[in-house]
Amino acid sequence: MTSVAQHELRPEAAWRPASHRQAPPGGKVAFIGANNPETARMVRDVQSATGVEFIGYFDNDPNKKGRTFCGLPVFGGFDDLLRCDRAAFGLVNLITRDTSTRHQTTRFFADNGFSAADFIHPSINLDGVTLGRGVYLQEGVIVQGGVVLGDNVCVNSGATISHETSLGTSCFVAPGATLAGLVTLAAGVLIGAGAVVLPRLSLGIGTIVGAGAVITKDTTERSIMAGVPATAKGKAPDDEAFLPLFLGKT
Ligand SMILES: CC(C)(COP(=O)(O)OP(=O)(O)OC[C@H]1O[C@@H](n2cnc3c(N)ncnc32)[C@H](O)[C@@H]1OP(=O)(O)O)[C@@H](O)C(=O)NCCC(=O)NCCS
Repeated sequence: MTSVAQHELRPEAAWRPASHRQAPPGGKVAFIGANNPETARMVRDVQSATGVEFIGYFDNDPNKKGRTFCGLPVFGGFDDLLRCDRAAFGLVNLITRDTSTRHQTTRFFADNGFSAADFIHPSINLDGVTLGRGVYLQEGVIVQGGVVLGDNVCVNSGATISHETSLGTSCFVAPGATLAGLVTLAAGVLIGAGAVVLPRLSLGIGTIVGAGAVITKDTTERSIMAGVPATAKGKAPDDEAFLPLFLGKT
């Protein structure tokens, strides 16, 4: 394989302007993780704006199988998922408790032939923004021009991603956090609620930023940062390499 072909296979090559998004397979979406009631409001808003049909949940908790969560059925766990037709629907990963689990879950369904679908509140202005696949943006997120949100990124309500900031694969930004302009997050970074990252900083792969922290310096891989100004409190486990995800063609 030539180096050019390898370059073309990099998932970043499939990241596209937000205006070029494609509908999920079959125009339908199922969720991974039946835990957050905020999903129900998002479903109503996204469904009426886009016509995408949300069909239900997959969740490995056996107590949830066969019940409903926020008005949609829980089909069962990953064993049940693997018996489904890959062309019938796309999947949205709602897991945000840590970026390792989020990344591993998306890799599991991508490696098994499922497509990642976006779940983006229709009120968000994405003009001039580049998106990977499987991006989940809650209501009230501000994403400024020149921002890049990679595959499997999630940003929660009220967070601000300022101009020309870039989030790598599987990053998660909690409610009310602010990333100033020209910030670069490597893959798997978690930004805690209300934290602030000052302009032009780079955060290493798997960095965890505590709630309310103010990051004033670049961070190294897997640093746990907290406080104002933030200082290193330790290292996150080295249990996930955050390798690129191959989520199919856009
Ligand atoms: C910083 C953080 C990663 C540390 O987690 P942890 O390693 O499990 O730490 P602990 O809860 O055991 O606390 C360790 C110490 O740090 C302090 N601490 C915890 N979080 C802190 C924070 N955000 N800022 C300042 N100090 C913090 C604790 O008070 C404790 O201090 P002590 O040893 O003097 O008692 C975590 O507390 C945090 O802020 N995570 C982000 C949560 C979040 O916003 N999630 C998004 C939800 S949508």
